[in-house]
Amino acid sequence: MTEKELFGLAVKASEKAYCKYSGFSVGAALLTSDGKVFTGCNIENASYSLTVCAERTAIFKAVSEGYADFACIAIAGSAGGDFSAPCYPCGACLQVMSEFCGGDFKIILADGVHTLDELMPKRFSL
Ligand code: THU
Repeated sequence: MTEKELFGLAVKASEKAYCKYSGFSVGAALLTSDGKVFTGCNIENASYSLTVCAERTAIFKAVSEGYADFACIAIAGSAGGDFSAPCYPCGACLQVMSEFCGGDFKIILADGVHTLDELMPKRFSL
């Protein structure tokens, strides 16, 4: 699975986004260390704060299926079908990534490959 292919799966996952309030579709494709892919989309709610981001949907799907060892995640977001601008993950999603992934975890965006250390250098841990 190439980074480009994983990004393509994220774009595809964004087609399932339930984003009637923001109109901003996000898809995520999470690759496990043993080669399985879990996808997710953002799921909004009339009670806005209950919205769940695409990245957390994918991570929670994977963990709930017994997978918690991850290689990388691709994220694609768009308001109108153009996925060329990077959709940086929010702080909440980065914190959830940090629960399961090390600082070298790769985050694949439209502008290239980043790491968890780069995007969230100081992370909360107990
Ligand atoms: N969103 C994500 O899915 N991932 C992020 O990391 C940031 C934002 C979603 C939440 C909401 O449905 C929409 O983008 C606009 O904020």
